[in-house]
Amino acid sequence: MKDIYLGTNWKMHKTISETKSYLHDLKNYLKDINFDNIKVFVIPPYTALDITKTILKDSRILYGAQNMHWMDEGEYTGEISPPLLKDFEIDLIELGHSERRRYYNENDIELNKKVKAALKYNFIPLICVGERKEEKKYGVSQEFIKLQIKTILNGVKLNDIEKELNDILWIAYEPVWAIGEKGKPATPEYIEEIHSVIRQTLKKLYNDEISNKIPILYGGSVNQENALSILNQNNVDGLFIGRAAWKANSFSNIIHQVYETFINKNSQKANQ
Ligand code: PGA
Repeated sequence: MKDIYLGTNWKMHKTISETKSYLHDLKNYLKDINFDNIKVFVIPPYTALDITKTILKDSRILYGAQNMHWMDEGEYTGEISPPLLKDFEIDLIELGHSERRRYYNENDIELNKKVKAALKYNFIPLICVGERKEEKKYGVSQEFIKLQIKTILNGVKLNDIEKELNDILWIAYEPVWAIGEKGKPATPEYIEEIHSVIRQTLKKLYNDEISNKIPILYGGSVNQENALSILNQNNVDGLFIGRAAWKANSFSNIIHQVYETFINKNSQKANQ
């Protein structure tokens, strides 16, 4: 059985005390979950990483930060480097979210450097890609996403990393037009089409084994109603959720729904 990945990016939300109550609640709600085949992760703001580390120390919930500079140190006011994040023992680092690209002009060449820095520091890069509504309208979404992946992974060698392959690097497909309050979720068929393009691109860059083991998550207006039908697609390995997971109980509802449908059912079958 393939692992399933379910995570949330909190964006610019949650104080330390809000983080405390969210994470205590979430841990409580997920007490009955066996995490062997399901990877749950949260991505709080930097200011909540310290308390997140403390609360999640004895838990299998993973956590990460929302962005990172590629340099170890330097005159870069306002930036956070890999060694600074190492202090918080993060598991993963989100890179290239469309809000970073849109408001802070982040580009794929910088992301390429960030991915290399993340791997050097043993953080799992969670690389976000996705077309805007313009590329979709012009019919060039697939080319656009291929170009993003090839640029971001240029010179990134995965073959010789000594780690479980599925813990090396994750990709999130997040069409920009699907994200946020004004977004409309992509249809499961459309998502599958793009995810298989991503899979093929990874196959060309690396090989069959690596491309099959890199999890490809979908993000953009995921909620309790559409989570299962999206996850039911062949090439969808997980969900990357914003608004619908910002309350611990609604995130937990999605996790339980997925767990009962895809994981528990399978393990019951295996035990029969
Ligand atoms: P959303 O955000 O689920 O609120 O649309 C998704 C994201 O930005 O990753």
